[in-house]
Amino acid sequence: MKVLVVGTGAREHAIADGLKDDVELYCYMSKVNPGMSKIAEFKQGDEGEVEKVAEYAVEKGIDIAFIGPEAPLGKGIVDELEKNGIKCVGPTQSAARIETDKSFMRKLFEDYEIEGSLIYKVFDNSEDVSAFLDEFDQDVVVKPVGLTGGKGVKIVGDHLKDNEEAKEYSCEVIDNVMGGFAQVIIEERLIGEEFTIQAFCDGENLAPMPAAQDHPHAFEGDVGAITGGMGSYSDVGGLLPFLTQEDYDKAVEIMQATIEAIAKEAEPYKGILYGQFMLTANGPKLIEYNARFGDPEAMNVLPLLKTPLIDVCQAIVDGTLDKVEFEDKASVCKYIVPDGYPETQYAGELIEVDEQAIEEMGAKVFYAAVSAEDDGIHLSGSRALGIVASGDSIEEAEKIAEKACGFVKGNVYHRRDVGTTELVNKRVEHMKEILN
Ligand code: GLY
Repeated sequence: MKVLVVGTGAREHAIADGLKDDVELYCYMSKVNPGMSKIAEFKQGDEGEVEKVAEYAVEKGIDIAFIGPEAPLGKGIVDELEKNGIKCVGPTQSAARIETDKSFMRKLFEDYEIEGSLIYKVFDNSEDVSAFLDEFDQDVVVKPVGLTGGKGVKIVGDHLKDNEEAKEYSCEVIDNVMGGFAQVIIEERLIGEEFTIQAFCDGENLAPMPAAQDHPHAFEGDVGAITGGMGSYSDVGGLLPFLTQEDYDKAVEIMQATIEAIAKEAEPYKGILYGQFMLTANGPKLIEYNARFGDPEAMNVLPLLKTPLIDVCQAIVDGTLDKVEFEDKASVCKYIVPDGYPETQYAGELIEVDEQAIEEMGAKVFYAAVSAEDDGIHLSGSRALGIVASGDSIEEAEKIAEKACGFVKGNVYHRRDVGTTELVNKRVEHMKEILN
């Protein structure tokens, strides 16, 4: 079986790692990932040039392509590959609108009466935004409708001081056609604890994975810029210390209802559905969907898979997905980033990664924005390496991951608090306050 992984980050490295023992592995990546290049035959090229990816896949006789990032999905990579007879783990362009067009997503919830939605409105001019916000007496979240590489969403109380700043930013989004749409979505700001559920989908059936919680803020104590995610954890039993089985089941029901609606409104959804939820006093609410694995959350769940990943991929493309099994372990992932990240002043610097020592500790390293040169690993300026460990508790996994982070030397930083008992308890207490 020949499998092609498209993408270049730590998420794609984790996917490739999960497949490497069972398939002949190929990768198509915009930058050479030092971990993936060791385990696969690869081609360097822009993943968004979908015809070229398809050409490469045909030339290599690929059976299944696994699409890592959202941008090529938005460009119709799956449609192009399928046109060339290659089966895909990833939704078609039309089904991927669940991520690439946020107004499509919210409308789907409305039209199909899917639970877990929130107050929102789509605008295409700033006067209407102003009039709406003058009347709306809650904090809001401002979202471009299309893809912005994780940099477009701004929250009042985080990035924006108040709803007046929300008006200014909305105007910027519309005027600059940010994310490819001259539109903006204004949503109510939810109060609660965020959690992620990722699910394998075969167009009809959904196999959910253990829940995880990401840490978007750059610095310890949940302060600083919002990033793509500085680390994440998952717990034994597939739940989180603040998330009950009932909440988890409710979120999965929302995801199941969503793929049923996508099949009716667009095309059957095959691939990974990532649900980002807020657990509120009124249960789980859907913040947004991604049409791919989360990064870092992929690194929590993929190493715990008991069912071989290739069997899951085959079931997705065949439409025969059943239960997918995971080890009953906790996991903690910490992202190593350049000092000062998200500033990029250390781009290009050499770092030392003692991969052998990390593995001897029982942890794993997944490479992201780094390059391997003759003298070693160099930073590229963004998130550099994901260090992941599992254990019989979050505490045990955190201790291993934290020690393993010590084997990366240079001008780098990681959040030592991700997965610590202190921070996890803070989340639990926060949720108790909200529920009381
Ligand atoms: N962890 C956030 C994301 O994958 O988009």
